This record gives sequence, C-alpha cells and structure tokens, in this order.
Amino acid sequence: TDDRISRISSTIRVIPDFPKPGIMFQDITTLLLDHKAFKDTIDLFVERYKDKNINVVAGIEARGFIFGPPIALAIGAKFVPMRKPKKLPGKVISEEYSLEYGTDKMEMHVGAVEAGERALIVDDLIATGGTLNAAIRLLERVEVTVVECACVIELPELKGRDKLGDKPLFVLVSSSI
Ligand code: PRP
Ligand code: MG
Repeated sequence: TDDRISRISSTIRVIPDFPKPGIMFQDITTLLLDHKAFKDTIDLFVERYKDKNINVVAGIEARGFIFGPPIALAIGAKFVPMRKPKKLPGKVISEEYSLEYGTDKMEMHVGAVEAGERALIVDDLIATGGTLNAAIRLLERVEVTVVECACVIELPELKGRDKLGDKPLFVLVSSSI
C-alpha cells in the first residue's frame, strides 16, 4: 500500500499561484496520465468500500466525476452526480455552500436516491470542507446514510475535516500547502 500511495502522490502535479497568487493547485490530471497510479487510486478505494454495503456513490462535479464512476462500477453501486446549479434537467434539491467569495449551489436529482440507502461521497480534494459538507447535507435531507467521504487529496492545514461533523473522511494523500 505504501508503494502505491507514494506513486500516487508523486504523480500529482503542484502548480504554484494557480488560479490565483498564493494557491498551490493540486493537479490530478497528471495522475490520470499514469495508468498504474490511476488504477492504484481506484483499487485502494474499491478495497476499502467493496464490503461496506454501499449502494450509492455520489460524485461531486467536476473532478468527483472522474474518480466516482469507476469506484461505483467496481463495488456494484449506482453513481449519482452532485452538480453545479442549472445543469440537471429534472427536478432537483439543492444546498448552498460558501466559497472564498460568495456562495455556490450543489444540486441532485429528486428520485436519484431513496431514504435508507447507503452512500459514499467522492471528490478529488478536500480544502475547507464546504463542498463535502453541502453534499452530506443534500443526502441527509433525503434520509440517505452517508457512510464516508473519500478524497484523493486532503489539505490538512485548512481543517476541512472539522466541517464534516461525525462523518468519517478517508484520503490517500495529505498535502502541506
Ligand atoms: C475544488 C475541488 C473540490 C473543492 C474543495 O473544486 O475539486 O471539489 O474545490 O474545496 P472545499 O473543500 O474548500 O470546499 P472546484 O469547486 O474548484 O471545482 P471543480 O472540481 O469543478 O474544478
Ligand atoms: Mg471540485
């Protein structure tokens, strides 16, 4: 496992001052170019979640759409997209969350999940935790059990983990910023 984690970690490209001065951007597109690192990433999640009776993988737009679906297929769960506003054509429920400047919304189709189902939330990265917090609120509003949140990367200095309440967070790589 340690070998796999070091390979994954080494394929993530860090780009200073993108998109703004002072931000160390964690670029996972370079991880995707390395077949072994990408496969190891998915395998590590699948090994952890395959026997947890998870039937929903909720992936957060945009980069949760890259890692969520292969995990869902491998563990036998459905994939539910959590989208930016006004992208989903059906009836939606939405939750607001705060960004550095102002607020954004996250939306999910009504009927995509049912009360009592068990979900894993997937995204590429947790920074302040506001995004995952909104995803948890959306699923809990419709009485879905959030089993865990899973990200490739955590920026621990931003303490996003503290915004998840009692929800467990699993990450592969911790990155100092
Ligand atoms: C980034 C990242 C996470 C979120 C984490 O997404 O992919 O989804 O920020 O930030 P937080 O923990 O502070 O809420 P972003 O909103 O930049 O958009 P994208 O994934 O669509 O590129
Ligand atoms: Mg994102």
